[in-house]
Amino acid sequence: MQPKLPSLRVFAEDWLKPIRLEALFDVSRPFEIDVGCGKGRFLLARAAKNPGTNFLGVDRMLRRIRKVDNKARRLGLANVRLMRMEAFYAVTHLVPADSVSTYYILFPDPWPKKRHHDHRLFNEDFLNALHRTMVAKGRLHFSTDHLPYFEEVKAILSADPRFKEIPAFEPSDDERSDFELYYIQHKKIGRCSFERA
Ligand SMILES: C[S@@+](CC[C@H](N)C(=O)[O-])C[C@H]1O[C@@H](n2cnc3c(N)ncnc32)[C@H](O)[C@@H]1O
Repeated sequence: MQPKLPSLRVFAEDWLKPIRLEALFDVSRPFEIDVGCGKGRFLLARAAKNPGTNFLGVDRMLRRIRKVDNKARRLGLANVRLMRMEAFYAVTHLVPADSVSTYYILFPDPWPKKRHHDHRLFNEDFLNALHRTMVAKGRLHFSTDHLPYFEEVKAILSADPRFKEIPAFEPSDDERSDFELYYIQHKKIGRCSFERA
C-alpha cells in the first residue's frame, strides 16, 4: 500500500507576501484554485482526474480543510494543497500574479439579505485580484443556486472588457460538488464561465 502523504496544508511563509508556488508544486504545470472548496468532493474528483495539474483548495472553515486534507492524503493526491484562509484575502494577497489557469467559485455563500450583500465575495477589488492572478486565457467558472446573485455576478463580469464569456463549465456527475449534489438537486443552477482576455 502507498504510504499516506504528509499534510497537504499550506502555511504562508509571510502572510503579507504571495506564496512561493515553486515551494509547493512543479510550476510548469497548470495551477487551479477551488475558492470555498467546502468538503472537497469537486476538488478531489477533479484533482484525481488531472494528475498533471496543481490544485489549491481554499476555505475558511478549519474543520473542512482538515477533512479534505485527510481525504486527499488517503487518495494519494500529491497534486493538491489546502489553505485555511479567508478567500478574499488569499486571492488579493497570497496568490501570485499571473499564476492561475482556472478559478472555480462554486456555490459561494450568497448572503441573500440586502443588508448582508457587503459580505459577498464578488466586488471590484476581488475582480481586480482575480484578473491580476490569472494567466492570459485563464478561466473562471462560477455557479450558484441563488439566481439574483448569479445575474449580478454575470453582469459584473460581462461588463468588464478584461473578461470574455465562454460556454459555461458543467461538471461531470462524479465532480458535482457536495453542495450541488446533496442540497440543491431540485433547484435551478446558474452557471457561467469567463476567460481572461
Ligand atoms: C455553500 S458552501 C459551498 C462549498 C463547495 N464549493 C460546494 O459547492 O460544495 C460555501 C463554502 O465556502 C466557504 N466560504 C464562505 N465564504 C468564504 C470566504 N470568504 N473565504 C473562504 N471560504 C469561504 C464556506 O466555509 C463553505 O465551505
